[in-house]
Amino acid sequence: MFEALKEQPVDKIMLTAQAYRADPRAEKIDLGVGVYKDATGLTPVMRAVKAAEKKLWEIENTKVYTALAGEPAFADAMVGLVLGDAVPRANVAAVATPGGTGAVREAMELIKMANPNARVFISDPSWPNHAAIVDYVGLKRMSYRYFDEATRGLDFDGLMEDLKQAGEGDVVLLHGCCHNPTGANPTEAQWEAIVAAVVASGALPMVDIAYQGFGDGLDADAFATRLVASKASECLIAASCSKNFGIYRERTGILMGVSNDATGTKLAQGVMTALNRLNFSFPPDHGARLVTMILTDPELTAMWKEELEEVRLSMLGLRQRLADELKRLTNSDRFDFLAQHRGMFSRLGTTPELVQKLRDDHAIYMISDSRMNIAGLNTKTVPVLAAAIVKAGI
Ligand code: LMR
Repeated sequence: MFEALKEQPVDKIMLTAQAYRADPRAEKIDLGVGVYKDATGLTPVMRAVKAAEKKLWEIENTKVYTALAGEPAFADAMVGLVLGDAVPRANVAAVATPGGTGAVREAMELIKMANPNARVFISDPSWPNHAAIVDYVGLKRMSYRYFDEATRGLDFDGLMEDLKQAGEGDVVLLHGCCHNPTGANPTEAQWEAIVAAVVASGALPMVDIAYQGFGDGLDADAFATRLVASKASECLIAASCSKNFGIYRERTGILMGVSNDATGTKLAQGVMTALNRLNFSFPPDHGARLVTMILTDPELTAMWKEELEEVRLSMLGLRQRLADELKRLTNSDRFDFLAQHRGMFSRLGTTPELVQKLRDDHAIYMISDSRMNIAGLNTKTVPVLAAAIVKAGI
């Protein structure tokens, strides 16, 4: 039977990771896959996570299955973190999922069950797995303009124009903050207009929020998600704990279905729980438990917030340094957008050929669409990258 299988495409983020690993050059710089790295190149276990793990080791007395939807305390803690008091807790159906990807996948499956003809609008560009999952689940994929290649900022007019195509029965997938791959984000006023347009269109808004706390702070980064939840009668939210808790390999995420109709919430809860059972039975618990412990213990919360803020500020510092260095080298402000972007990524805005040239000539690895992981830099490599960008004629 296996001979009938077709080779599957490997997405460009995974391809970059493979090429980086295979490069024998010692001075290579990895700006590929989105993981946070400190100045020494390590992706550290956060202090609050270590402390929670230690405590958990002492108190955990069973590894029996968790609930199908995950622990209710995890859902409560995450609903609080992501939604604050934007909606009553009773309006939110939630299931723990393996990472944010698990939540996106189940959201698409739920949409397919509710409306097999739904069209899912995703930003152009978006995280490549968004398109891959929409296609795999068999939903119709549409796109809306997002990035202005000239300014490297948001193409707000293009976005608003394209959203006019969405209507009742469709889904509009939004990045809650720290847009991946561009780093360009709407202002709060633009968010108000975007959310109003989606709500008026009758389409279901869905938010993927994977970088809360990496942009402008935990609450500022949740602004759009909270706005969506408070304005729309129904919405879906996929949230990841991989980055902001640094627990990538624990696969910790949550899918929320928010409805201001009690029957809707109940149905969503039932379907999402059933999808867990169908896909993997019980969700992973270790990471979810650590997150719950951190968010419910004031001391651990403070420890976590402090380190998350250090991480955020270090990325902002690297952005500023890179923008300053490029300003110095080019005597122009055309790279100022790097300091304005938020989150882990910035799209440099160059061709795949020049991205390849940076790879060949300088062992600098970014995604072929010129997405750079800013956290892959440090104070030593910022001038190296800036010089290479200028040398390549970008
Ligand atoms: C990324 O965009 O690099 C991360 O979200 C990792 C991934 O799974 O692609």
